[in-house]
Amino acid sequence: MLEYTPVMQRAAINIEDQLRKVNGGISAALSGIAPEIFDFKAHPFSFLGKAARARFTLLAAQTLGADAARAGRAAAAAEMTHTASLLHDDCLDTARYRRGLPTLYDQLGVNGAILVGDLLMALAFDEAGAAAPELQGELAGAVRRMAEGALLEENSRWKKTDAAGAERMTALKTGALFRWCALAACHLARRQDLLETCARLGEGTGVVFQMVDDVLDFEGDAGACGKETLKDIREGKFTLPLILAINDGTAGPEAEKLLEALRAAPAADLGPALELSKLVREGGFCAAARADASKKAEELKPLADQLPAGEGADALKKFINDTARRLA
Ligand code: FPP
Ligand code: MG
Repeated sequence: MLEYTPVMQRAAINIEDQLRKVNGGISAALSGIAPEIFDFKAHPFSFLGKAARARFTLLAAQTLGADAARAGRAAAAAEMTHTASLLHDDCLDTARYRRGLPTLYDQLGVNGAILVGDLLMALAFDEAGAAAPELQGELAGAVRRMAEGALLEENSRWKKTDAAGAERMTALKTGALFRWCALAACHLARRQDLLETCARLGEGTGVVFQMVDDVLDFEGDAGACGKETLKDIREGKFTLPLILAINDGTAGPEAEKLLEALRAAPAADLGPALELSKLVREGGFCAAARADASKKAEELKPLADQLPAGEGADALKKFINDTARRLA
């Protein structure tokens, strides 16, 4: 039985204080927007969720000895970029709940949610530039990869995808921003010698994070996750648990049949999605996907070992392990 340990609580001792400053930095950036443009106070929406990317940035910065204030700005840029991508993603997914609150897509419709996402993206670039000018170009590269991953996913809906294809999308869609977080820490610490190591460590951490996200879509608690579950299969997205089920000699034919029924069913009919998810969970395919995520986290250790040893590196390794074990 997995034990739920919030990633944040197990992170380095002084991360909480820094995170409060990151949150303050995001609020300060948002407060510069005139209410007639967008009134952030009038729309209940969380602009900082689990803050996994901020934590990862701060831990990497601490490990590498980067300036804490600049790292805080980079962490804020990472979270703003992430939230901007979610505002767009919720339009693509017609998602109604995010971080335990109605999505901005639900509150404002597609147009408003996309434009607030664009606004946030611009603020993120400002914040990245304030941390260090070279981080802006790196962030443009990360956003490009994220959009490429999201487009690959969009083009693959209802198309049979294999595990390698799914991992490629994941590395782009989610790995790219974690990669940027690690690169930002590396640039801020002026450790150019570690850029390649940080890029691989960051991308790998993002892949682990997304693999667990995909498992949680099948077996997570919607309340704890703060968003609807079973969205991926209902949207025709072939994530690893489903791919493993379809490729299984015993469960495969039934999984394919249920998937066809799901595709044909009206959106309001949850029956086929529930049946398919039961088959995926009870067939052990979520457990297998999670085991794969843990293996990938384990494989990142030699990269983490190349960073300066100490309390920071230990906390960073713990963060990566906890990411593979998270239940929300
Ligand atoms: C959430 O993953 C979404 C992402 C990790 C990235 C989505 C990227 C874009 C929409 C491209 C545009 C990017 C920017 C920066 C404007 P998910 O859909 O698997 O998770 P979910 O269950 O939370 O929706
Ligand atoms: Mg989504």
